[in-house]
Amino acid sequence: MKQLLFFIAGVATLALLVSGEVKAQSFEFPQLPYAYNALEPNIDAQTMEIHYTRHHKAYYNNFVKAADELSLAGLSLEEIFANVSKYPVTVRNNGGGYYNHMLFWEILSPNSTGKPTEMVQKAIEASFGSFQSFKEAFEGAAKSQFGSGWAWLSVGVDGKLFVSSTANQDNPLMDVVAQRGKPILMIDVWEHAYYLKYQNKRADYVTNFWNIVNWSKVEELYKKAHN
Ligand SMILES: [Fe+2]
Repeated sequence: MKQLLFFIAGVATLALLVSGEVKAQSFEFPQLPYAYNALEPNIDAQTMEIHYTRHHKAYYNNFVKAADELSLAGLSLEEIFANVSKYPVTVRNNGGGYYNHMLFWEILSPNSTGKPTEMVQKAIEASFGSFQSFKEAFEGAAKSQFGSGWAWLSVGVDGKLFVSSTANQDNPLMDVVAQRGKPILMIDVWEHAYYLKYQNKRADYVTNFWNIVNWSKVEELYKKAHN
């Protein structure tokens, strides 16, 4: 029975490979991992719904269209970002928008513990001296990003953590940013992420962000970044 199941799975995989569907499936639009109102009162339901169904979906649709035209389906997003300067700017903007939001939804949770896991705490202390120093650096990057963009905590090539900010939909995986690394925590500071609830008070949105961080996901990304 077991052998038969393996055989069927093998034939199915081969059929998908031949039809090219595996490649087409490589750029999926994932489900939001919680309800639109799950992050209230920190992020309101209407903002979440518009952010996910319109902004994120539009980046995804535009990226898939560009990826199709440029035959990028065989590449991973990481591979594309590593050479993003060589592609039309629509790949940078929409590929970034697609990927950044995907990661952002995952590092948020309605069940945040409110503090980092032991492993992440130690890594932060090793790189920044203390959690408070890291928090100040991250908040500073988020608040001072002029116009639209993101603030990031990433694992650098030396294995140490660093904080950075990027404009528009750029991210630390791209070959166009000043400091490259693998992102493990990020905040979207585009006005579309907070304006309905917070209006011009980006600082309040950034402060409340800490209430909804999914630290176990951050740890997962941290471990993955070292592989
Ligand atoms: Fe956004």
